[in-house]
Amino acid sequence: MRRCSIRQWDSDSPVPRDELLKNVAGADGLFCLLTDKIDKAVLDQAGSGLKVVSTMSVGYNHIDIKECQKRNIPVGFTPDVLTDATAELTIALLLMTSRRLLEAAEQVKSGGWGSWVPLWMCGPGLSGSTIGILGLGRIGAAIGERLLSFRVSKILYSSRSPKEETAAKLGAEFVSFDKLLKESDFLIVSCALTNETRHIFNAQTFKMMKKSAILINTSRGDVIKQDDLYSALVHGEIAAAGLDVTTPEPLPTDDPLLTLSNCVVLPHVGSATVETRTSMAVLAANNLLAGLNNQPLVAQVEVS
Ligand code: DGY
Repeated sequence: MRRCSIRQWDSDSPVPRDELLKNVAGADGLFCLLTDKIDKAVLDQAGSGLKVVSTMSVGYNHIDIKECQKRNIPVGFTPDVLTDATAELTIALLLMTSRRLLEAAEQVKSGGWGSWVPLWMCGPGLSGSTIGILGLGRIGAAIGERLLSFRVSKILYSSRSPKEETAAKLGAEFVSFDKLLKESDFLIVSCALTNETRHIFNAQTFKMMKKSAILINTSRGDVIKQDDLYSALVHGEIAAAGLDVTTPEPLPTDDPLLTLSNCVVLPHVGSATVETRTSMAVLAANNLLAGLNNQPLVAQVEVS
């Protein structure tokens, strides 16, 4: 058995950039989180001995994949193990936002709960609605599966290419992004953050959505242009938004979005079940060890 020595940033706050740069020098492997920017400077500093980068996340937009490819450094990530937890959280956020659960619970505490009023704290139901999903990957598909049990009327999806097998299981229809915007009652963002999806929700696209639409984002904050979202929510261009991801993270407590009753913000807890976070850590560690041993990674990022 071979031994390895570990330089670990032993804190819950992200490793400061200078500490990362200092400590990565000469490393054979790098285990990182989604809060660590792994770019050319970090890879240069690590040096030519770096054999593997392993992130404890399914998203890898914080890693310069092209730079890793140029250097033949495999990148490990953690798909599958967080799919169920993230899909569950997405449904929870969808219900919190549409049924105004935070607002309603707050009313109980603040004494706003008077007698039973016919239209008080009402929101739209899922049953019979049209669901739009942007990105029908593993998590998007798992969200769709769960939504079927809510008796939604149809599921539309948009992604780079049709996902025929998955769509057939859900009875989902592949549509253009424009059609997704125009027809969705609930639009769920479950795509990766790429140059194509960055700020894909912006002033122009919000105007194409139904005024009654609810937008849910559990992917990455940068998919949405947040200032434009604020304006769309204030001016009633869409009805409400539920966000598990923001830019920046953490969202400053004085961010205007936090003043809105029609916006629910959670602190990036999509995968936050004990079992899931444990599986993510184990898979990331196994990816790291495989790379150090010059073996194929258990789950390796493949980008063409
Ligand atoms: C990921 O793994 O990319 C998620 O955003 C963390 O839950």
